Amino acid sequence: MSLLEVSDISKSFSTGRDIIGRRTGWTHAVRNVSFTLDAGECLALVGESGAGKSTVGRVVLRLIEPDAGNIAFDGHDVRGASPARLRAMRRGMQMIFQDPHSSLDPRMSVLDAVAEPLIVHTDLDREARTEKVRELLDKVGIGPRYLSRYPGELSGGQLQRVAIARALAPGPKMIVCDEPVAALDVSVRSQVLNLLRDLQEELELAYLFVCHDLALVEVIADRVLVMAGGEVVESGTVESVYRDPQQDYTRKLLDAIPAPFPRGARQR
Ligand SMILES: Nc1ncnc2c1ncn2[C@@H]1O[C@H](COP(=O)(O)OP(=O)(O)OP(=O)(O)O)[C@@H](O)[C@H]1O
Ligand SMILES: [Mg+2]
Repeated sequence: MSLLEVSDISKSFSTGRDIIGRRTGWTHAVRNVSFTLDAGECLALVGESGAGKSTVGRVVLRLIEPDAGNIAFDGHDVRGASPARLRAMRRGMQMIFQDPHSSLDPRMSVLDAVAEPLIVHTDLDREARTEKVRELLDKVGIGPRYLSRYPGELSGGQLQRVAIARALAPGPKMIVCDEPVAALDVSVRSQVLNLLRDLQEELELAYLFVCHDLALVEVIADRVLVMAGGEVVESGTVESVYRDPQQDYTRKLLDAIPAPFPRGARQR
């Protein structure tokens, strides 16, 4: 049994309404997508903008309800979970978003932001929570002097580290990372990516790693799922897909990786 088992999920969004409010169009954001993710593994979801990557990530965490399909996390049905069961499951499955400026509340200090999930998911008292927050900030490379700072006072890279500490706080087994470095300055991207990789190894985390940058995917992922128009068009280990892509669509994505990356797939 895998940590995460996703079978045949589909999700449509209504795209318009006529003047009396009837729905007029639908976007099939995700169609019949299935995959598994093992404990400690990193699976990348790649594909062009609008391919359905973020929708898959959100459906997995039940931030949005799918129209069809099943999701099992750690042996428990996610779709049918009661609110109490879902809360318990959320301890094990966390999310990091692209833009830490919008994922962190500007009125919450760093201490409060990272302590919040500890309040929800643990019965640590205030003192123990503060100690735990210090530990977590240390893990993500943020000094204790930032404890009482507010998001507006931190750089994008620092903020994303805080968001990572917040995601780690409940002790998850899996983190859905939705373009976690795409909004950061190029100069700090690889630092944050390396941090994610080190944490994965140290904490044996599983990542569902949404990313359109195949050069980054190659660094961090074990397997890759290529999506186009809401469907999975190709999947396999990073090594096999990059060396011998089966679809033109995948080849185009790989060809878009900037040099220097002298690899078989791009030397044609
Ligand atoms: N809440 C929503 N309401 C309506 N349409 C949506 C909604 N969320 C996503 N869509 C549509 O579903 C499709 C898939 O969107 P999704 O955000 O999953 O793509 P993505 O692969 O994450 O793209 P990107 O790389 O730009 O983030 C797109 O056509 C998008 O416009
Ligand atoms: Mg997206």
